[in-house]
Parts: sequence; C-alpha cells; structure tokens
Amino acid sequence: MIPHAARAELRDLLGAEGLAEDEVERACHAYDATPFSPEGTGRVLPDAVAFPESAEQVGAIVDLARRHGFVLVPRGGGTGMTGGSRPVRGGLVLTFPRMARITIDERDLCAVVQPGAVTGRLQAEAEQRGLFYPPDPASKDFCTIGGNLAENAGGLRAVKYGVTRDWVLGLDAVLGDGTRLTTGSRAVKSVVGYDMTRLLVGSEGTLGVITEARLKLIPLPETRATLAASFDDVRSAADSVLGLLTARLDPTALELIDRTCLESVRETLPFPLIDRTRALLLVELDGGASDVARRLPAAERLCREHGATASESAADEAGREALWQARRSISPALGRISPHKVDEDVAVPRSRLAELVAGVQDIAARHDLQCASYGHAGDGNLHVNLLLGERQPEVLARAERAVSEIFDLALQLGGTLSGEHGIGTAKRIYVARELGAAGIAAARRIKAAFDPDGILNPGKVLPEPGAGESGDGDDAE
Ligand code: MLT
Ligand code: ZN
Repeated sequence: MIPHAARAELRDLLGAEGLAEDEVERACHAYDATPFSPEGTGRVLPDAVAFPESAEQVGAIVDLARRHGFVLVPRGGGTGMTGGSRPVRGGLVLTFPRMARITIDERDLCAVVQPGAVTGRLQAEAEQRGLFYPPDPASKDFCTIGGNLAENAGGLRAVKYGVTRDWVLGLDAVLGDGTRLTTGSRAVKSVVGYDMTRLLVGSEGTLGVITEARLKLIPLPETRATLAASFDDVRSAADSVLGLLTARLDPTALELIDRTCLESVRETLPFPLIDRTRALLLVELDGGASDVARRLPAAERLCREHGATASESAADEAGREALWQARRSISPALGRISPHKVDEDVAVPRSRLAELVAGVQDIAARHDLQCASYGHAGDGNLHVNLLLGERQPEVLARAERAVSEIFDLALQLGGTLSGEHGIGTAKRIYVARELGAAGIAAARRIKAAFDPDGILNPGKVLPEPGAGESGDGDDAE
C-alpha cells in the first residue's frame, strides 16, 4: 500500500496529469497480455498509476518508494505474455506515454529513444530515413521500447538480426537503490567494465527503471520477399528448418505455423488454405534485389525437396504485409478461440526442433489437451498453446502437468523455458530447473545489490525466497 504521506508527495511531484488514483485507471493497468496460466496470475489492482515525464521524475519516484516502503511496477504497452508488468502486490505502476520521444541520428546510425515509444513507430521513423531497426515483436504496433528492453523481446526477424539486446548501445536507468546509471556508449564497440547494458535488458524491471535507450540502426535492405511453403505434416516442416538454415539462404524470418493456428487466421490469409496442409513455413528474405531474386527460388526448391507440397511467394509489399499481418494475429486469434489458452514459449537448439515439435504433440495427446503450435522455427523457438475448453480444476491440473513436462522436454533437448516471453509471474516457479541453485543464488545477489529494499517489480523472475528453489512448482501464488 502507498501510505497517505507518500500519496501527497506523489501528487505534488507529478501533478494531476501525472498520477491516476481512480479505479478505472488502476484496473486498466492491472493486466497484460498473459493468457490464463495454470500457475496462477490473479488480478491485483495497483494502488495508483504514475505517468512520469522525465528521468528526474522517475528518480524522485524511486526515492519516494524507498523512503515510504511501497513497490513500483514498470509497465510498457501491456503486451507481455508472462505477467511481467502485473502489479501482483499493488503499489505504483509506472507507465511512459509522456516519455515517448524518438530522435534519430543518421550520422551515427543510432536512435535515442524514451521507454514509452511504440516499437512500430521507431521502425517507421527509421525507415523514412532509409534506416532499419530490425527487432520486430509480433505486437510491434502496441508494444513499447521500454517493454521490449525489459523483456529482451525477440520477434520475427531474430533468426537473422538477433533480439532487442543485440541492438542496444547503451541505457539510462534508475536502479532500485536510487542510483542514476548510464551504461555503454554511442560507439558500436565498447569493452569497458562489466556489461551493465546486457544485465538490465531482460531483467523485467526488477533491477532498474529504464529512462532512455541508445539503439543501433542499419541501412534499410533494398528489397524483401516472402515465401509460404505448405507441408502435409508438421514434423516434416520442422525437419526442413535446419536445411533452410544451412543452405546459405540467410533467412530474415523462418516461421512455422501449424494447422490449428492457420485456421485461427484463415480469413486473413492472402491465399486459400489447402485441405491437406498441416503446417506452413514462412520464409522471408531481404537484401539486394538481384540477390533476393536468386535466393527466393532456391528457398522454394529446398522446401519442396524437404516435402513441401505447395508454395506461394509474395514479392510485392501488399502480399507480404498481408501474410505477416496474419502471422502476427495468431496469438490474439487463438485467444479468441480459447480464452483459457496456456501459452508457452520454449526454445531448443535448432537441430532439436523437430524432436520438440513431436514431443509437445505427444505430451498434449497424453494429457488429452488440444495443442496449437507456431513460432520462430529459425530460432528453435516454439509458442506452444494448450487450448483449454474450460477452467475446471481437473482440466487445469492436466494442463499444469503438461506444462511441466514441456519444460522438462525443452531442457532435456538442451533448450530453455523461454525464448522471448520472459519469466514474469507465470514461470518463476519453474525457473530453478534451468538456472539451478547456484544460478538462483547469484541472481539473488545481483538483485540485492541493485534493489536492496526490494521495491522494484516484486514477485517476478525469481522464485519466492526459500520456496521453489528446486523448480518443482511448489510456490504457486
Ligand atoms: C508471437 O510470436 O506472435 C508473439 O510472441 C506472441 C505470442 O507468442 O503469443
Ligand atoms: Zn513470438
């Protein structure tokens, strides 16, 4: 709870524009895009919502929170998939629509961006100048750079260009102990000291509040083309991914979509869905026009050699955009089919992807659950959705067992619990399976050094102290 005295100070600091205490605003900032989770993510309202307009105000808010002992929950566009921005213990949500400036420096190929800037707007502003910001989360039209940094968002082009972390030159942040920290430099190379930038990116708002980022840009590729290859079974589609990755085709995106997911966006696909199709591989290429014109038929040939039974290519912008828009809509479309879907995000080494796809199907069948999978196949990253018809305790128990087995499978295959959606509240009870006791203990020491009073985004990323250290799912909220 935010004490009375602290509320008065917050009102003085932020003014009427900068602080909301009414129930509607509190309710609007109590959720993110996390679907139902069997581990439990009940909705808790924040006590108030702050809309700071400067790094100085963020610093003052952190000082106030420390002095009065209330917690802070930084929030981006609310598109997170694991509850990272949910205020599970009330407190003050910090959101940044008033800190959304984007400044592009064409000489240094760099963008200076405040946390509230929407990612798609940064992409568009860079493109207007012939520049390119490659990270491309499916929610780009709604998510913010601050949220992308906090979660280390991946997205559709990571197979060629990497994830958000790979595009950060440096950050300004207010740490949990009130320190105003500037990391990195505007040089594209810097090896001075510990890499605080990489530590803060992906820390889910538990170590510091990011107030500015310097992001790398590159020249916009001359052209892009997209290929959609249909397969009669999802396993052969997964099998062909490795071939596409090693054939010098340099895909920008390499996505796998199974039949259930295709059905969910069928109306928006720019071509009719063939009856026998059980999976689609989407391959995007970019680069020089003649080079792309050479690689596109080569990719198509390779898909056919690996069992594709049909293919469509879209070299024009409208066709490409329609296809990618359909792909980006899968997550919300599945949510409409099954409001109680469980959405996991495991990733494995690319050579093990076909085993993951097969293993996940087996697990779902064994627990009598409908499963829909899609995702960033080129990264070995699969979004596994268990579509629960109803929220009965018995169904939830089966889903929980299936999720636990899916995590074990990903780890056995040399992979990870999350490729890009993060841990948040939804997966923290499993995190020790991957990090181990030593990893958890080291993470706790970092947390204590950056946020000694535990005011930043409590209840996220790490298990509760003393509980869940084994990752056996024993500290469910
Ligand atoms: C996507 O790739 O569409 C996003 O990560 C969202 C999701 O998986 O639900
Ligand atoms: Zn994704």
